[in-house]
Amino acid sequence: MAYAQLNSIESSLEDIVSADAIAVGFIKSEDSTYELVGKIEAIAAIEKFFDIDLIDEITFFQPSGKAGEILEIPISQKATKADRIFIIGLGDQSTQSHRLAAANLGRKLRGKNIVVSTLLATDSQDIRAHAISVVLGAYTWTLKSDSKPDQPTFNVVGKSEKVIDDAKIISHSVCRARDLIHTPSNFKNPLWMANQAQKIAKEGKLSIKVLAGKDLAKFGGLRAVGKSSPKPGPRFIQITYSPKVSGKRVPHVVLVGKGITFDTGGVSLKRPYDFMTAMKGDMAGASAVLNVVGVLPQLKPRVKVTALLMCAENALSGTSQRPSDVITHYGGTTVEVLNTDAEGRLVLADGLAYADAKLDPDYLLDIATLTGSATLGLGRQYGAMYTRDSKLAEQLIAAGESSGDRLWHMPLVDDYQDSLESDIADLNHTADKGDYSAGSVTAALFLEKFTGKRKWVHLDVAGSARSENDSGESPKGGNGFGVRLLIDWIMSL
Ligand code: BES
Ligand code: MN
Ligand code: ZN
Repeated sequence: MAYAQLNSIESSLEDIVSADAIAVGFIKSEDSTYELVGKIEAIAAIEKFFDIDLIDEITFFQPSGKAGEILEIPISQKATKADRIFIIGLGDQSTQSHRLAAANLGRKLRGKNIVVSTLLATDSQDIRAHAISVVLGAYTWTLKSDSKPDQPTFNVVGKSEKVIDDAKIISHSVCRARDLIHTPSNFKNPLWMANQAQKIAKEGKLSIKVLAGKDLAKFGGLRAVGKSSPKPGPRFIQITYSPKVSGKRVPHVVLVGKGITFDTGGVSLKRPYDFMTAMKGDMAGASAVLNVVGVLPQLKPRVKVTALLMCAENALSGTSQRPSDVITHYGGTTVEVLNTDAEGRLVLADGLAYADAKLDPDYLLDIATLTGSATLGLGRQYGAMYTRDSKLAEQLIAAGESSGDRLWHMPLVDDYQDSLESDIADLNHTADKGDYSAGSVTAALFLEKFTGKRKWVHLDVAGSARSENDSGESPKGGNGFGVRLLIDWIMSL
């Protein structure tokens, strides 16, 4: 799909008015008067040039001033292209308000071939948030036969070329993650995921390894889930970014993503069936880690990053695994499978154990649309984060705030450990023993068993990685949660 474009332009009047439209910000102050905010001098020049008083215009409409409210004012065309000004509410002027304002502007212009000069943000943090969010708001995915590839271009005013270059890389990486998630599962199977990964690895000259068939002998979880759909069968995909730094050892981050290309639940079939329609997005974790590692050659952090994509389809067929099967994970842990719909933790367990045994990570992080319980606890605005390392938790929370993919630190409650006992295997994977009603927590406790002594973080993004409707920066459906977050975190290491 086509993505919205970003440019950095000078704040000269000539450059600004050569676009099709201009976007400026306003707030409603405590005494209920209105104020223009952002690139004030440039806005004053625009008012003079078009002979218009924007405060008069705003006051006429009496808007609430909340972030993302948009007024569209026609302007008398001079010898320039610009024929309208978007005046956009900036709420409390926080970075989050900048995101909402930008996303709504992007959404308003979605699918339109239009160039807009934007003057909403001034400091570089807000310019970055603004630029990323206009692109995310404009995002669209469609297979409509009459669709055109048009998308807007945003000329962000201010001397901020580096900021805009990074914003372009990051926002387009989120868009690519979204494209994979939105792709229906009749196109998207584990082999297709491997092909996408090959393409991205080639672009960034990253090393990539794909395991299938007999080479997956030790990956008992991935095989048990993936054998339900034997053609083309599960794939383990490993992609590595190694920075070129001489001498000094750089930290190694391993990112493990859940890549279930469709989750029917398997023999423990999902009911009612409309719960299934969202499950083409059950590979959102894998999509996130793939698109993060994919842009690191451009962003050049001094960190080695390995992405592991655990790809399988959880189908219902004659070769599906059964509730009561016992499987052997990478590294030898045996697990009694009680509910075939708890397949995510089975594929992740292999990835985590492999990373611990083979890759010597300094940080081991997994991201997965893992449990409905995460959504019950936090809704859609926060991802659930589990880790015993409080410093790491702080780092990631900070990356969540700076990026817009926000996280909440959840507890790994040891009182619930006994729920993972099994009479016949090392573990049962659904925390069936005991009735703790803490599905997201017990899933995290299960995963922890496979992480050795590593510094480990688990992100349950079942709630935050999709949206029920077009709102904020999210389109309806998968939103690429985690891409911005992990990029910001890696760049901060
Ligand atoms: N992929 C689902 C979790 C999910 C649910 C993601 C809704 C996004 C939206 C996962 O594989 C699953 O089915 N989890 C079960 C676990 C249970 C069987 C222990 C769940 O959450 O109900
Ligand atoms: Mn499931
Ligand atoms: Zn699933």
